Amino acid sequence: MLNLDVGTPVTRGDQPWIATRAAIAGHAVYGPYQRLPLGRYSVEFTIAAADDQRFDSDEVCAVVEVVSEFGKLVSASERVWPSQLRDGPLTIRLPFSVKSPAIFEYRVGVTGSARLLIRDTAPIPTEFVVEFPPDQYISRAFESRDGNALYEAMFGGSEPLRAEPAAVGLGSTLCRQLHFSLDEYRYWMKALAMRPRLHRKEWEWFYIAQCLHEADMLAPGRKGLGFAVGREPLPALFASLGCEILATDQDPAQAAQSGWANSNQYSEQVDSLFKEGVCDRDTFFSRVRYRSVDMNAIPDDLRESFDFCWSSCAFEHLGSLQHGMRFVENAMATLRPGGVAVHTTEFNLTSNDRTFESETTSYYRRRDLEELTTRLEARGYRVLPFDWTVGQGFAETVIDLPPYKQSPHLRLRAQDFDCTSVGIAIQKS
Ligand SMILES: C[S@@+](CC[C@H](N)C(=O)[O-])C[C@H]1O[C@@H](n2cnc3c(N)ncnc32)[C@H](O)[C@@H]1O
Repeated sequence: MLNLDVGTPVTRGDQPWIATRAAIAGHAVYGPYQRLPLGRYSVEFTIAAADDQRFDSDEVCAVVEVVSEFGKLVSASERVWPSQLRDGPLTIRLPFSVKSPAIFEYRVGVTGSARLLIRDTAPIPTEFVVEFPPDQYISRAFESRDGNALYEAMFGGSEPLRAEPAAVGLGSTLCRQLHFSLDEYRYWMKALAMRPRLHRKEWEWFYIAQCLHEADMLAPGRKGLGFAVGREPLPALFASLGCEILATDQDPAQAAQSGWANSNQYSEQVDSLFKEGVCDRDTFFSRVRYRSVDMNAIPDDLRESFDFCWSSCAFEHLGSLQHGMRFVENAMATLRPGGVAVHTTEFNLTSNDRTFESETTSYYRRRDLEELTTRLEARGYRVLPFDWTVGQGFAETVIDLPPYKQSPHLRLRAQDFDCTSVGIAIQKS
């Protein structure tokens, strides 16, 4: 977050920066108040001198730091002098350890002795090794079989600290333990009237909501199209934020034939999408409509009608890997220029070579999603860059096995493959 008393947002070479003023001291960048579990992390800051900054005196101009307990505990800190910026931008990496779960802040204080540019990137820590939480943190949570108890044991609480989610720049990404530590994760769980757990189902809904929020899509008057919504709470959430939603799923005959009609993940009417505590009844029924749509044959009358579209845990069920990829390409036609599509699906962590493909479910490899990206880009769409980091966090190393009731459940083994969820976000310019 940027402190506007100290800096102003500017763009340099397509990148967002914060320009600080001379003789004004204070924290130019602060937040994001992220709860981190035990482990070793590092976070990066990039600082440059303003174009017309002179280098005749050399007093400390900035301090970058990692703090917890709202500034009481400093985990890492480094001072910056103008002479370090003479040859161009300086990237400072601060490694730090978390020995008990706490709320972390990454901030840049400036002294006002030089006019600076600070890269305005989401300060999500990169490259970290999460140690197994000691017994006292997890045994009670495991025994209780309550996913929220484990979440609270690892992250220290369920309540978001901020009233609004910030932009964290998730891009296209695998489901990561780190995402669960974000205040934004707790924010969207609260908005969905759910207690946070380490579960990839909730991650998919968080991912879709956060990407659409960052693209400024979740605002009054925006029109959204949900594919294969099942009983998910996203139509109610988006309606509560002022959007008009067309929620769709396959028609009842098709659902009966494919078996989805007997699951608790299918809906054929708008009523089953109403969620108490997410959206009030009148708002929901005035803003959400329902219609049957086959993702393999998107009707022409939906072309260029929506600001955004989404699907969660659905395009892997369309018949084959290629069916799913064709759906993602075809769904772009439903968007107006400037629109955004966000989809989640199953990702094969075991192999970039072998995979499981069947009429009912397919697991996407990295190379399939790279092929899909190439195809989308060839049509002029922008796929947000993929973060393929698998992670070594506690929740990233526990593999859930049938009947898949365990917490954490970020990874599972199915058909001899270890899988997780992956999200892809695409812009139509
Ligand atoms: C695993 S459920 C996911 C439901 C929901 N999106 C969620 O996240 O809970 C898969 C959904 O895909 C739908 N589906 C499967 N094949 C479809 C098709 N050809 N067209 C539209 N929906 C389809 C099913 O009816 C079901 O609602």
